[in-house]
Amino acid sequence: MLYRKWGSEKDYVVTYTSSNESDREIFEEVKTVMKAHVIELYLSGYIKKDVAKKILQAINSFREYVGDYEDVHEALEDYIIKMVGEEGGWVGLGRSRNDHVSTALRLKMRDALVDVFEALYNLRSSLLSRAEKSTDILLPVYTHFQPAQPSSLAHYLLYVDEELDSVWDQLFTSLKLVNRSPLGSGAIVGTNVKLDRKREAELLGFEGVVYNTISATASRLDLISAISSLTLMMLVFSRLSEDLVLLSSSFIGIIRLPDTHVSTSSLMPQKRNAVTMEVLRTKVGECLGHLMSLMTIYKALPSGYNLDLQELNKHYWECVKHVIPTIYVVKDVLEKMEVIGKFDDKSITATDVAEDLALTGIPYRKAYMEVANKIKAGTFQSEISFKTSIEKKAVIGSPNPELIKDEISFKKDKLERKWNIFKEYKSQFIDKISELKVIEDGILQ
Ligand code: ARG
Repeated sequence: MLYRKWGSEKDYVVTYTSSNESDREIFEEVKTVMKAHVIELYLSGYIKKDVAKKILQAINSFREYVGDYEDVHEALEDYIIKMVGEEGGWVGLGRSRNDHVSTALRLKMRDALVDVFEALYNLRSSLLSRAEKSTDILLPVYTHFQPAQPSSLAHYLLYVDEELDSVWDQLFTSLKLVNRSPLGSGAIVGTNVKLDRKREAELLGFEGVVYNTISATASRLDLISAISSLTLMMLVFSRLSEDLVLLSSSFIGIIRLPDTHVSTSSLMPQKRNAVTMEVLRTKVGECLGHLMSLMTIYKALPSGYNLDLQELNKHYWECVKHVIPTIYVVKDVLEKMEVIGKFDDKSITATDVAEDLALTGIPYRKAYMEVANKIKAGTFQSEISFKTSIEKKAVIGSPNPELIKDEISFKKDKLERKWNIFKEYKSQFIDKISELKVIEDGILQ
């Protein structure tokens, strides 16, 4: 124990308040942040090169720790002092765990979001190419879960992509918010040590700084925003999974899920349970729960650091860990599922019949009533096939196979544009963080 001045070594209170468990998630990021701090102390003239060198070597050899430490920050500092001797204690200058943990969390979240963008791009590309091949695959769509009108698989896939396009923008905003450095802001008001906060931000590849030191040390809004954007994406997947459970059930049976996504019953051999979709729904529930925990812990905290903030940490990663596997499952199911059912309920062309009548000059309400009365009397008949029905659709965004081709090419271009913007943005911080390595190597020589 380095910081605790009272209590015994075996104090159960240390265990109760420690973040060692969740700190495992940010172990590498904490070391990286400490390196940036040491390099900044050196560059701004507070420590000599040989001291910086010894400290950096110690940081590199820090692999694990045991002992009654409150957290990884204390353990790392103690380790540095043990390895380097008294001079290792310079790392405490101008630094607080408050700015350090906040920085480490942002680094980790930034990486997590980058991985999500890559997986999401792959999902959306595959979804758009399947849509291209599915403009003529007929699929009824539902409102109130009653069969509504004929549509196509392509139309459904493009709906999913439209949702993911909004999520993409939310995630990109979150990424940009997360990608700002709190480093150098001390415990709450900064420090008397002349650290160059902008240079520290550059070293870690951040786009800029979280300016105000109260915000930098004790705000978690940007991290919660990231979880909120991820959870929005999970909500899209959740509705999709619900669709697939229902449409693949034997009651409806118009979708056949790939064998790898279903499992049977140990007792009832006829079952093809949509197990990936069922588990997917639970993961969304978990993310929602974590988001709710984050907001609930956060909502009534006085400004400035409180140890409650530490208790948020596990909830970020508990949600994050579900996201990429979920994207993969969704990608796989959308690539391999098949539309198999013949859907012959002609009543779903009733709207087409009424619209056709109206377009001959009868006010729509009158035409509608005529059709409704025939349906009521059981005499409704329609000559309109599902194929004709979708071909008749006249507005953009509809399942009309001709119009939908334009939509697909528009969406493909848009995705490529956004993907290039993302890659360009990402390369900026990847390149910068490798500069940190170059400076580190220079000191270590
Ligand atoms: N372990 C804490 C966290 O993860 C950082 C410690 C801050 N402690 C303090 N007494 N200010 O948030």
